[in-house]
Amino acid sequence: VKIVSTSATADTGTTSIEAVRHWHRELPGDHRIGLVPTMGALHEGHLSLIRRARAECDQVALTIFVNPAQFGPGEDLESYPRTVEQDLEAAREVGVDLVWIGDRQELYPDGFSTHIELPQLAQRLCGASRPHFFAGVCLIVLKLFHIFAPDRAYFGDKDYQQRVIIECMVRDLDLDLEVVACPLIREPDGLALSSRNVHLDPAAREQALTLSSALFAAEQQWRSGLDSAQKIRDRALMELSGEVELDYFEVVDRNDLSALEVIDPKLGAVACLAATVGGVRLIDNIQLEPR
Ligand code: PAF
Repeated sequence: VKIVSTSATADTGTTSIEAVRHWHRELPGDHRIGLVPTMGALHEGHLSLIRRARAECDQVALTIFVNPAQFGPGEDLESYPRTVEQDLEAAREVGVDLVWIGDRQELYPDGFSTHIELPQLAQRLCGASRPHFFAGVCLIVLKLFHIFAPDRAYFGDKDYQQRVIIECMVRDLDLDLEVVACPLIREPDGLALSSRNVHLDPAAREQALTLSSALFAAEQQWRSGLDSAQKIRDRALMELSGEVELDYFEVVDRNDLSALEVIDPKLGAVACLAATVGGVRLIDNIQLEPR
């Protein structure tokens, strides 16, 4: 695996971005490049994206960068888990070709001032309580798309809203790549995999399990024939531990994420939630498949 970082390229007088461009130019023209953007602290969810990219592309590039632009004041930028050595080991094992470790100063040098304005759907759900979040995500993702010029980019559906917004950006800006959506991965007991799970103490982890229980209950209601979003939500919320601070639980349209009152059986929906548990913000969702 080739590792590219600012500290590794400093001796040669090139930046890590130039090093990636150089790598790209040296590849045979018909090589398909798969990009897996992450903030590191890799878990099975990330590895599933890498494996999919490995199976579908000639070259797999993994990026690791805890992107300050997507954290607001008082959020967990400083305490976000950072496990670079283990990440490199995992990348080696799963067969990544290039790992790029982003550098804040290189990506956002003094004077950096461009921002991205996003559609309405970025103000819903997580966007309501984290107004800076998706603009920050799209800024870095767009930069990565320009730096790596991938044929395919892999995103997990744990961050369902993020994936839908990135697809919208790719469409609107005529970016020449395919966004590949990969399924959310859960622990055997139901907890959605997240890098932030390492911050859950045992009591908080128990409480966090009620998030997926709520979503499973929602799906159960939907499968058994209920189509009122309100009723599905009410039933789901009964599962939540009293210790969970719920940000939102909404049953929304799969494409534009607008809140639904009645779910069209032909279209289905997605139930999404965000909550703080033991001081850790978690998100999760479940597809209510067309029936
Ligand atoms: O999903 C994430 O880990 C991040 O939001 C992403 C896409 C790597 C951008 O920083």
